[in-house]
Amino acid sequence: MAHSDPQILAGRRILLGVSGGIAAYKTVELARLRVSVGCDVRVVMTPGATQFIGPLTLQAVTGWPVSTDTFDPQQEAAMGHIALARWADLIVIAPASANCIAGLHAGQADTLLHTVCLASTTPLALAPAMNSQMWQHPATQANIQALQQRGVQCWGPAEGVQACGDTGPGRLQEPTELYQHIVAYFTRGSLAGCHLLLTAGPTREPLDAVRYIGNRSSGKMGYAIAKAAAAQGARVTLVSGPTALACPPDITRHQVQTAQQMYDQVMAQVSEADIFVACAAVADYRPETCAEHKIKKGTVPRSLTMVPNPDILAAVAGLPEPPYCLGFAAETDQVLTQAETKRKAKKISLLAANRVSATAGFDADENALTLLSDQGRIHLPQQSKQRLAQQLIHHLAEQYHAYLTIQNS
Ligand code: PMT
Repeated sequence: MAHSDPQILAGRRILLGVSGGIAAYKTVELARLRVSVGCDVRVVMTPGATQFIGPLTLQAVTGWPVSTDTFDPQQEAAMGHIALARWADLIVIAPASANCIAGLHAGQADTLLHTVCLASTTPLALAPAMNSQMWQHPATQANIQALQQRGVQCWGPAEGVQACGDTGPGRLQEPTELYQHIVAYFTRGSLAGCHLLLTAGPTREPLDAVRYIGNRSSGKMGYAIAKAAAAQGARVTLVSGPTALACPPDITRHQVQTAQQMYDQVMAQVSEADIFVACAAVADYRPETCAEHKIKKGTVPRSLTMVPNPDILAAVAGLPEPPYCLGFAAETDQVLTQAETKRKAKKISLLAANRVSATAGFDADENALTLLSDQGRIHLPQQSKQRLAQQLIHHLAEQYHAYLTIQNS
C-alpha cells in the first residue's frame, strides 16, 4: 500500500462525504487508509448511501459517529452541520452520485451532506461514480463543469466494467488512487491544507469622535506573511487593523479598528485555525471612556485614565486546544531577553523578535527577525519584508510539522 508521505497527512481533518451508489463499499477502504496515517476522518452519509453500506461500518473504521441526519438532535448538540463545515481541512465526497453532484451545483440543502457543503468554505473534491450514460449525460457534464469552475476538484471517474454491466467512464477511482490525490492535495506547499489565522497592522483606541491612540505599524510585515503563507498553500484569514494596504488575493480579510474588535474577530475565527500568527501591534491599554463628540480645545483632560485591553495572543495560546502560535515582540533594547520573557509568559511555541529602528520594524520596508523556540534561535538578517516573510514561513512550516508529529506520536 503506497503511503508516500504519511507525515504530511498527520493531524489533517478530512470530512468524507458518502452519497448513494454501489461504489460506497469502497469508501470503507479509503477511510481506513486515511485513518491509518493519522488523519482525523469524520463521515457524513446521505440517506441514499445508507442503503448501500451501514453507518456502523464507517463508525468502526474512523472511530467517530457517522452523521446522516440534518435534524438529529444528538448530532446537532455534539457537532452540528455548521461545526462540521468549519472543522474540515478538506471535504472529499466518494462516491459522488449524479444526484449528489446536481444538488451541489444547485446549492441544495436537502441532505446533511449538501447542507454541510453549502455552509462551508473548505476546499471540496468529488470522486464521481455512476452509470456511464449518466456520467456522459449533458446535464451531469454541465453540473460538473460548473462546479469545477467554482474551484471544486474532480477525481475521476475511472473507466471499465460497471456494476450494471455497462462499460465506460463512471467507476469510482480505486481507494489507493483517491488516497494519492489527497496526499497530492496536501503537498502542494509547505502549508498546504493548513488554515492560518493572522493579525496585522495597528489598533486605534478612540478618545473622542475624531481622536485616537495608535501606533506606527503599517501592516506591511503581516500582509507579507499572509501572502507568503498563501503561496505555500495555506488558507489564510487576516484580521487587520487600519492600514492603507489592499487585501492580497486569495485571502479572507476582516477589518477592525480597536484591540477589543480584533480580539472578538480572532476569537470568532480561532476554532478553525491550525496556526495563529500575532503580528499586529495591539494597544495594551485604551482610554477608559470615549467622548461621543469631538472634545473642544481647552476642555481636553490633562490626564487620561487607561484600562487594559485583552491580550489576544495570550488568550489564544491559553485555549484548551490552541492552534500552533507564532507571536512577535517589537523591542527597542535588550531585544532577545525581553522577547524570551514574553514567549515564556504567553506560552508561545515560536516567537519572532524584531528590533525597532529607523530602518527596520515599524513602517519600514525592511525588517530583521530572530526566531526563538525551545529548539534554539535562528537569525533572519535585514531584508525586504516580502523576502523575510518567505523565510519566516519556511521555518514556521518546519516547526509546525515537527510539532504535529510529536502531537500525533
Ligand atoms: O506593521 P509593520 O509596519 O510592518 O511593522 C511590523 C511590526 C514591527 C509591527 C511587527 O513586526 C511586530 O513586531 N508586531 C508586534 C508588535 C508588538 O507591539 O509586539 P508586543 O511586544 O507589544 O506584543 C507581543 C505579542 O503579543 C505580539 O505578537 C502582539 O501581536 C501580541 N499582543 C500584544 C498585546 C495584545 N493586547 N494582544 C496581542 O495579541
